[in-house]
Amino acid sequence: MAIERTFSIIKPDATARNLTGAVNAMIEQAGLRIVAQKRVRITRDQAETFYGVHRERPFFGELVDFMTSGPVVVQVLEGDNAIARYREVMGATDPAKAAAGTIRKTHAKSIGENSVHGSDAADTAAKEITQFFSGNEIVG
Ligand code: RTP
Ligand code: MG
Repeated sequence: MAIERTFSIIKPDATARNLTGAVNAMIEQAGLRIVAQKRVRITRDQAETFYGVHRERPFFGELVDFMTSGPVVVQVLEGDNAIARYREVMGATDPAKAAAGTIRKTHAKSIGENSVHGSDAADTAAKEITQFFSGNEIVG
């Protein structure tokens, strides 16, 4: 298996409930390494760019409001097959449909306030990492 990097966000519903450490423990227990991390407040512009693919969806406004409603923790995760592995660890978008033991099943509040983001493919991972981190902030 190839060593990959993926981009993660611990979303405002999780930082509000002081769950950064709990989420990070689940990430590390799954064999993924946190090679970059910072707590930031993202702007509307950043959120709209980040979720641009969903611009036409009915939930877009709500999603941007939510992602800018409080601090987030942006991260780069590294490991074998990290992109697909982290999607497994997060669980389904809707926590009601997520498998037992996943981050979203354990912590998410709803389909919108679902605690974490993870890149869905190699090209989006590279783009998302570049949006938030410069090369020297990532230390593997
Ligand atoms: P993410 O991009 O955040 O990792 O989540 P995902 O791939 O599992 O889901 P995606 O389809 O990309 O949707 C992005 C985020 O939009 C919010 N959402 N709300 N109200 C709704 O029906 C709805 N559907 C999606 C969620 O916060 C979702 O993670
Ligand atoms: Mg997505």
